[in-house]
Amino acid sequence: MTSAIGAEQTSVFPRFLDLAYPSIERGEGVWLFTADGRKILDACSGGAMVSCLGYGVQDVIEAAASQANAIAYYYNHHFTNRPQEQLAERLVNVVAPEMARVKFTSGGSEANEAAIRLARAYHVERGQPQRWRVISPAQAYHGSTFGTLALSGRRHSLQQPYEDYLPESFHLSPATPRFDPTGETALGELDRIVEKVGADSISAFFCEPVSAAALPAYSPPPGFWEGLKKRAQRHGFLICFDEIVSGMGRVGSWLAAHELPIEPDIVTIGKGLGAGYAPLAAVLCREHVFDAIAQGSREFDLGHTWDGAPLPCAVGLAVLDVIQRRGLVDRVRERGPRLLDELRAALKGSSIVGEVRGRGFLLGVELVDPRDGSSFLPRELDAASRVDDTAFDLGLLVSSTQSTPDGYAGDEVLIAPAYTSSDAELGLMVERFAATIASVERTVIHELGRQPVAAAPGA
Ligand SMILES: Cc1ncc(COP(=O)(O)O)c(C=O)c1O
Repeated sequence: MTSAIGAEQTSVFPRFLDLAYPSIERGEGVWLFTADGRKILDACSGGAMVSCLGYGVQDVIEAAASQANAIAYYYNHHFTNRPQEQLAERLVNVVAPEMARVKFTSGGSEANEAAIRLARAYHVERGQPQRWRVISPAQAYHGSTFGTLALSGRRHSLQQPYEDYLPESFHLSPATPRFDPTGETALGELDRIVEKVGADSISAFFCEPVSAAALPAYSPPPGFWEGLKKRAQRHGFLICFDEIVSGMGRVGSWLAAHELPIEPDIVTIGKGLGAGYAPLAAVLCREHVFDAIAQGSREFDLGHTWDGAPLPCAVGLAVLDVIQRRGLVDRVRERGPRLLDELRAALKGSSIVGEVRGRGFLLGVELVDPRDGSSFLPRELDAASRVDDTAFDLGLLVSSTQSTPDGYAGDEVLIAPAYTSSDAELGLMVERFAATIASVERTVIHELGRQPVAAAPGA
């Protein structure tokens, strides 16, 4: 079998029909092995910031096998099970002591849908059924279901042609250094939306405290969070944090929320919770959110077939054990700043690199037009894909995105290694990435030729 499979050679319905997909046969630590014998260094935890422990972790594999032997599945509607009970308890004791209850799902989109509904249920139970509107920053990604897709305001790069299906949602421009370094513009937009729709119609503010793919490693300035907190208190809406990526130690603390001057009422975690050994995510809420239901209808009737099933929860427990036993959150917190320094040093002087950001093991590299060092690169160059392809040719997996048509961000590269990556492996990731950028820089400069300078960002 060849390792790159095109749309014409498969019965699978591929995501992009013009791409040929290399076939991965196995993984070991932070290395991926393709079916035709290539060895790829994984700097993005399985490509989707999931495999935070790397591949082949025996303790997790054995826990999964042992649970599958005992019982892999039964429906949460009829029974509970020990792994679900224990994992919920460990999450509220270890990961998020400020939270009171946990509801498991199979993926991030489901967890975020559950969070939207939980916020809504909270208000309905408290006699405020008019509160349903959700406000969120536009440059974000919260999932691919219609509810979660509506939370992002990326009309051009994500929502078309499904806009007609999306519920009404309200968005702020992100408070990035490029447009709004103090966060005051975003807060002003929030005030205008509140004024327009009426404070008592708002259910929640929904956001990534530290962005993942949409604006890698970006978090608004403290002033934004402080202003948001005041407004949530004043207007009575809830704060929901999507920590599907940033949770479970990715940014050097169990939750990114723990580093910010604001406390969410509801938080979702995923990706690193199952670490790629099982599909697993969760929505967690504080006591007052749970109490609204406990003292009201006593029902939050939302379920998917696999929610809280024994097998994924046993995997989650084993993952948490490994993270704790090996002190991996501390490792990410301590090693992350040095990794950022190393990446910055390696990219210094590149004419296509703008901001290089990092929080723990979540790093982002912004690409810019070399002709002025600040504009987005022309969309048709598709620098994001060039980076991914060149990196792959050099034996490195990174993940790039292009949101240029929405005007808030251009081409961005995400680097999110496994917490278990050795110093030597991190060094090699930086080295191969610098070589990737140098090669892309050459082709970009060559292709730009004498084209006019690109339009100003956001124009
Ligand atoms: C921040 C964030 N939220 C939600 C999701 C959706 O998760 P899933 O793909 O598991 O539904 C993702 C996926 O990449 C994500 O990055």
